[in-house]
Amino acid sequence: MDFSLRKRFRHFLLLSILSACCLVAQAQAPRHTFALGAESFLLDGQPFQMISGELHYPRIPREAWRSRLKMAKAMGLNTIGTYVFWNAHEPQPGQYDFKGNNDVAAFVRMAQEEGLWVVLRPSPYVCAEWEFGGYPYWLQNVPGLKVRSQEPQYVAAYRRYIQAVGQQLAPLQVNHGGPVLMVQVENEYGSYGSDKQYLALNQQLFQQAGFDGLLYTCDPANDVAAGHLPGLLPAVNGLDQPREVKALVRANHNGQGPYFIAEWYPAWFDWWGAPHHTVPAEKYTARLDSVLKAGLSINLYMFHGGSTRGFMNGANYKGGTTRYEPQVSSYDYDAPLDEAGNATPKFLAFRQVIAKYRPAGQPLPPVPAARPAAALPTLQLTRVASLLSRLPAPVVSSTPLTFEGLRQAYGFVLYRATVRGGRTQLLKITELRDYAVVLVNGQRVGTLDRRLNQDSLRLALPKGPVQLDILVENMGRINFGKYLLENTKGITQNVRLDGREVKDWRMYRLPFDTAPVVAQGTAPTSAATAAPVLRSATFTLATPADTYLDMRAWGKGCVWVNGHHLGRYWAIGPQQTLYVPAEWLKKGANDITVLELLKPQQATLPSLAHPILSELQP
Ligand code: GLA
Repeated sequence: MDFSLRKRFRHFLLLSILSACCLVAQAQAPRHTFALGAESFLLDGQPFQMISGELHYPRIPREAWRSRLKMAKAMGLNTIGTYVFWNAHEPQPGQYDFKGNNDVAAFVRMAQEEGLWVVLRPSPYVCAEWEFGGYPYWLQNVPGLKVRSQEPQYVAAYRRYIQAVGQQLAPLQVNHGGPVLMVQVENEYGSYGSDKQYLALNQQLFQQAGFDGLLYTCDPANDVAAGHLPGLLPAVNGLDQPREVKALVRANHNGQGPYFIAEWYPAWFDWWGAPHHTVPAEKYTARLDSVLKAGLSINLYMFHGGSTRGFMNGANYKGGTTRYEPQVSSYDYDAPLDEAGNATPKFLAFRQVIAKYRPAGQPLPPVPAARPAAALPTLQLTRVASLLSRLPAPVVSSTPLTFEGLRQAYGFVLYRATVRGGRTQLLKITELRDYAVVLVNGQRVGTLDRRLNQDSLRLALPKGPVQLDILVENMGRINFGKYLLENTKGITQNVRLDGREVKDWRMYRLPFDTAPVVAQGTAPTSAATAAPVLRSATFTLATPADTYLDMRAWGKGCVWVNGHHLGRYWAIGPQQTLYVPAEWLKKGANDITVLELLKPQQATLPSLAHPILSELQP
């Protein structure tokens, strides 16, 4: 054997030993039984009251998963709940991603290491104030595909995906030695439809993917009858009167329990332009007490919301003249743990209640100290470039293409056409989704906002050929209700000038799926520009700590720090700060880039040691 061969042989031997060890370790992990008793869950045959809290792995930096799980323990939770997010794991058809912040199996194993059980919700529809309710955008590119139905193309895509999820997570069910007590199929289906065959198909697909433990459904009280599947436990969302919960479950489950409130809301989420939601703990402690006293199991939605990073927020829309309501990036939720993972008064109040129901001799772990937070020195983002100076090669088409048509999930598309000027004309965009900055010859002349049902703008066009640019932002696909089925983005129909359709478009894809940077030495854009800009700076830190970028003086856009897309900001509020976790900052040099749509001259960026989530600006 020559030297390299010997080296390879040794490597092979080492790997074989390692994988043999893993197999033994897996085989040795203690398996448990988890079953439905008439009144309560049975863990290894003993009554078990699940005191669970929801938190979502993509909404927490991976580096902080463990400390959040320790906080869950410290509040007295014995279980955590999480959805599994299809569009995070299959961003393009057949391209699976279970790495880094998407490594849901690692998250679940970590919960087990921390002594927590897990309730898993791969639904695959999740709602969750998440883009398209968790569905990948590309489903909409398959003609005739219909989500949340038995439509064969949907079922085929669903089957492939849930098989991939099963490979990751089925081995982590309690009956295989993992911490997953039970697995939820669909999500509040009763609020959406009434096709029991479709529900049964979900059950089959899950079982075929290896989910051979306990399955359940969950629905709001009024929709349990429509959303439950005979044979599976019907869990209840949003109801917390023990007597009512019991009656409802019994009525739909052969007169028996156990009783599980699968989503109990200690507050609510926020959307742009509407007041921040808070609910004082006092309103909820007595209710939690009565639920626990009655022996019911519960999952707090949310125990910790965290932040919806990147462009992954969803939106609500109920049709007609109702408003399209895109959710903000903070998912603080006024939950027991705040956006940064610190204990709030609600955490302490709930902890006191839960402490009363601890088994004797098992005191709660102490509450970990709050994370240090500090303002950064005020930043000057002086490296600047016009967005229009950094366009990729365009896609050319006589009519405008949607994001989906351009095979683009999120972010922005710049639509460009040359039109004949010389007078004032009425620009009208039919079915704009969702927000547009309109530019004439490179200068911003107005904006259109779907939230406000704005679709037209008077344009004073100079003589001769005029360059018309419409920069369209996808503000988040609808995540709830029947408009899930109408979720394409961009200019989804047509553009007219004084009634005449504008043809011959060049479309520039701007997905911002990697962080943009304005390099040192970039020639500054002319000060007169009114076009959207990118601004960058580098700053040094001695000791990284949590910080909150104060975007109040800025207009609208998004921010990247050290390659992490922090999310969107918008002066209208209520969210005014973007949370930067210490884990994403470095000792030494750090990079920041802002995409600003409306205030290209803004360069000063202060930060705070606390969030502002409740400031609406007119
Ligand atoms: C429903 C859904 C959740 C979430 C909440 C609101 O109950 O099941 O995913 O959207 O509403 O936060």
